[in-house]
Amino acid sequence: MQVLSIPEDHSQKESILSTKCRLLLWSCVLIHISVILGIVAVVIFIRYQSSFSSTSINYNIDIPCNPLEFSDYTSYPTGTVPWSINNGYLDGDSFLDIVVVNEGGTTISIFYGFGNGTFGSQQLYSTTSGVLYVAVRDMNNDNKSDIILTYTNTNQIAIFISKGNRNFNSPITYPVGNYPYWIAMSDFNKNNLLDVIVTNDHDASVTILYDYYNLSFSYSETYPVGNDVTGVSVADFNNDSYPDFVTADYTDNTLSLYINPKNGIFKNKKKIYTSPVPLGIATADLNNDNFIDIVNTNGYTFAINVFLNDGHGNFNKFDTYNVGGHSRAVALVDLNNDTFIDIIAGNSDDDFICIFLNKQNGIFEACQRFITDWNIYAVTTGDFNRDGKIDIALTTAQYTMNVLLNLC
Ligand SMILES: *[C@@H]1O[C@H](CO)[C@@H](O)[C@H](O)[C@H]1NC(C)=O
Ligand SMILES: *[C@@H]1O[C@H](CO)[C@@H](O)[C@H](O)[C@H]1NC(C)=O
Ligand SMILES: *[C@@H]1O[C@H](CO)[C@@H](O)[C@H](O)[C@H]1NC(C)=O
Ligand SMILES: *[C@@H]1O[C@H](CO)[C@@H](O)[C@H](O)[C@H]1NC(C)=O
Ligand SMILES: *[C@@H]1O[C@H](CO)[C@@H](O)[C@H](O)[C@H]1NC(C)=O
Repeated sequence: MQVLSIPEDHSQKESILSTKCRLLLWSCVLIHISVILGIVAVVIFIRYQSSFSSTSINYNIDIPCNPLEFSDYTSYPTGTVPWSINNGYLDGDSFLDIVVVNEGGTTISIFYGFGNGTFGSQQLYSTTSGVLYVAVRDMNNDNKSDIILTYTNTNQIAIFISKGNRNFNSPITYPVGNYPYWIAMSDFNKNNLLDVIVTNDHDASVTILYDYYNLSFSYSETYPVGNDVTGVSVADFNNDSYPDFVTADYTDNTLSLYINPKNGIFKNKKKIYTSPVPLGIATADLNNDNFIDIVNTNGYTFAINVFLNDGHGNFNKFDTYNVGGHSRAVALVDLNNDTFIDIIAGNSDDDFICIFLNKQNGIFEACQRFITDWNIYAVTTGDFNRDGKIDIALTTAQYTMNVLLNLC
């Protein structure tokens, strides 16, 4: 018997197949589109929520000067990409001066203060390319602030000693690790000589240069921290009167905390987890319990994290506050003179600075916004008009330095 083979209907099969393929393809495309729409909706929702929440603040009238009041901002042109800012007494008068690093060029800008809240236009001083951070501190005890810079291209820090007449000695450089990002000063070994701590972004480490005296340091040590370390802040976290330090580790989503074993040589690193991408960092006692607390910004979220010290140098949980855009710069200072430290935070998406007033317990009111130029890089504070109130200066992606005077 002949078994009748049934000829397969290829064309039908193919058409079913290709229908299936088309369906698959279309559902793929649709899934992609809905994922993209979803992300856009979430972003819009977060932005909307943040703007909504800040327009509906219930100002707590038990807090002095609430809402805060600041002057409109004054805008001064800087060089290209004014990435870092600091202030001090650079020229021997008692008016605060402001220093800005122009990261996109080879200069720093100095704005000499008139002591009334206004500043002269930028005086440019030439440096080298790849300068990132500026610290201002009297390094040689002559009561004039000096300028300390990080040189990322040559893995050095440079110290410019002020002559007091708006001129500086030629900088002396000191080797540190790979891609020095941020500087802080302290006296870790408590021998009355200044030490400088530098974060080495590409080495996941910090270098401490110890005992600055007669224009040189006597020794240095390097300590491991997290990957892509950015900021560092020095404070006594366990109230033993020895300075400790904490870093923000950009790609690890951690802070690295080192407690001083009372000789300035550090041994044990403690990891503290944050929201994604900790970038800026600052420390102060936020609830007046005499223990130092930590605030970090989050480069990839619209938030800052506030860690309150449990009284033993432990930071087990954090509060989160919305700043409106990707948060970057942070400064901690008492803006309404109630002895409680407030938080100033700048973000890279908006044309305002966020101020969080302390509810006098380490918990903060929602962001109060003050208009600035767009996209804030860095913030510093000081009493620029000598009225006893702390003012704000900041740099922006508009290549400007803005000053806001405290009218509290
Ligand atoms: C140190 O400098 C500040 C600011 O310029 C000034 O007010 C103060 O009087 C100076 N102190 C001494 C001891 O010279
Ligand atoms: C501040 O002082 C400078 C220099 O004395 C003066 O030119 C300027 O008008 C003053 N500005 C204000 C707002 O008082
Ligand atoms: C300071 O350093 C210079 C150059 O190294 C040296 O000649 C001088 O003796 C040092 N001074 C003191 C007080 O140590
Ligand atoms: C911190 O240390 C100082 C000095 O030892 C002490 O007087 C103070 O009570 C301590 N503070 C707290 C909150 O433990
Ligand atoms: C801040 O408070 C202190 C103490 O209460 C007071 O002496 C000072 O005058 C106040 N400063 C300002 C600028 O209000």
